[in-house]
Amino acid sequence: MNKWIRPNMNRIRIAPSILSADFSQLGRQIAAVEKAGADWLHIDVMDGHFVPNLTVGPALVKSLRPCSKLVFDVHLMIDRPDTYWQAFAANGAQYITFHVESKVNHKKLIADLHRSGVKAGMTLCPGTNVSKLIPFLPLLDMVLIMTVEPGFGGQKFMPEMLARVKTIKELINQRKYKCLLQVDGGINSATALEAVRAGANVLVAGNSLFGDKNPPAALRAMRRVIDKLTIKKYNK
Ligand code: DX5
Ligand code: ZN
Repeated sequence: MNKWIRPNMNRIRIAPSILSADFSQLGRQIAAVEKAGADWLHIDVMDGHFVPNLTVGPALVKSLRPCSKLVFDVHLMIDRPDTYWQAFAANGAQYITFHVESKVNHKKLIADLHRSGVKAGMTLCPGTNVSKLIPFLPLLDMVLIMTVEPGFGGQKFMPEMLARVKTIKELINQRKYKCLLQVDGGINSATALEAVRAGANVLVAGNSLFGDKNPPAALRAMRRVIDKLTIKKYNK
C-alpha cells in the first residue's frame, strides 16, 4: 500500500474486541489478529451495574500488555470510571473511553486521563441524545458511537446510528478537532463500509472476527474492503 495515497492520518483502524474471543486461547488469538494487521485491541470492561454483564478487569490488561504491541483501547461500561481508570492506565491502556451517562465529573476525568498520558474517549448509549456529548468534543481524543446497546457482543448493527456518526464527523471537520471517531457493535465488512462512509475511522469488531472460524482471514477481508473504498476516495 502506497503511504502517499493513504497517509497514516487517514488510516482506518481496525480494533478487534476480545469480548468474542476464546478466553482459553486469548494470547494466541490476539497474536493471530495482530499478525493479520489489526491496529488496536478493544477491551470491554463491564461491571454488572452499568450494563447487565460482567467481563474483565485491569489484571487482564496487565497480563496481555507484554504480549502485544497493539494499542490497548479500553471501553469502560461501568458506574464509576473515575474510581477504576487508573488501574487500567497503570497497566498499559493507551485509550480509555467512558460513558457520558456515568455519574462522574466528565471534564475532570478527561483532564485526569490526559495528565497521566492516556488518550480520552467518550461514548453514549443509543438512547442518549447526541447533544450530551457535543460540549466535550474539543477536549476528546476519540468519540465512540455505539451501534448496539452496550453489554453484549454479537448483536445487530443499528443503521439509525449512522446519522450521529455523520453529525459528529461534520463537527470534527468544521471545527478542526483532532478527534478520532469510533464505531462499536455489529461491525462486519458490510457495516464497516457504511460506518467509514459516514465518517468513522476506528472500527471495533468482535463477533465478525473472533466468531469466525478463521479470525485472521476475517480481519484481512475487512481490511481489503476498507482499502478499496479508501483508495477510491484518495484517487478521485
Ligand atoms: C458491546 C461492546 C462491544 C462488543 C462488540 O457492549 O462494547 O465492543 O464487543 O461486539 P460485536 O462486534 O460482536 O457487536
Ligand atoms: Zn466496546
